[in-house]
Amino acid sequence: MSAAAPDIPPRLVEELRAARHVVALTGSGVSAESGVPTFREAQTGLWERYDPQQLATPEAFLRDPRLVWEWYSWRRRLVGGAEPNAGHRALAALERLVPSFTLVTQNVDGLHGRAGSRNVTELHGNITRTVCSAERVAVEPEDTDEPPPVCPGCGAPLRPDVVWFGEMLPAGAMELASEAARNSDVFFSIGTSSLVYPAASLPHEALAGGATLVEVNAGPTPLTPRADHVLQGRAGEVLPALVEALRGEI
Ligand code: APR
Repeated sequence: MSAAAPDIPPRLVEELRAARHVVALTGSGVSAESGVPTFREAQTGLWERYDPQQLATPEAFLRDPRLVWEWYSWRRRLVGGAEPNAGHRALAALERLVPSFTLVTQNVDGLHGRAGSRNVTELHGNITRTVCSAERVAVEPEDTDEPPPVCPGCGAPLRPDVVWFGEMLPAGAMELASEAARNSDVFFSIGTSSLVYPAASLPHEALAGGATLVEVNAGPTPLTPRADHVLQGRAGEVLPALVEALRGEI
């Protein structure tokens, strides 16, 4: 065991070995080590004067579609240049080590899928997909010097296929995530500040269903006092150590 490897409680390894249903809820902290800024981190570069919660809303898009489109284009370029990190890869490995694994993510960067995770529910959509703002069907955006591009079918402006504040989550996503949480034996909350609902209700549903709650985070959150195991540290270090302990490689 390398001296730097985070400590994984033996009791957690035993619980994981006995678990049938494992669920992981992830937030932007799991992508931080891929160079994708977390949501509430100070915005870097051009956008530091904007509050993201003022950009990721239908009202902002109606008010200034060009600004919102360009903010997402900046984020899309950022994500396009990012690679899955060891934390993403560890979750893809964990999926193959337990009988049933459900990954629920608040992230819109698509990095879990690129890391090899198969059963992924994207609660807040995916920034790499573009849809018609009127018909909500996927559209490949054309380059234009008057952004946002418009739908070739109906002429409405295109928008990123993400959930904005005040909007409904994708149909069925929350129901699927809630059922998985309620039926989970071990529930991981990873790299999320646990501030945004309804996603933040999932760990509490898991606890109500009798699950063991594990929090993996660089720091404390409002959920920390409820967790059975608190693994404080970077997801890119803690999650690989967890998988190694589960495989019995330590
Ligand atoms: N490893 C683990 N945790 C980390 C790391 C890391 N390397 N870096 C940061 N964190 C933690 C922070 O301590 C924080 O608790 O990740 C969390 C990031 O929190 P937020 O920035 O609030 O992001 P998130 O929880 O994903 O936000 C939820 O809110 O704004 C909406 O739709 C947006 O999906 C987002 C949702």
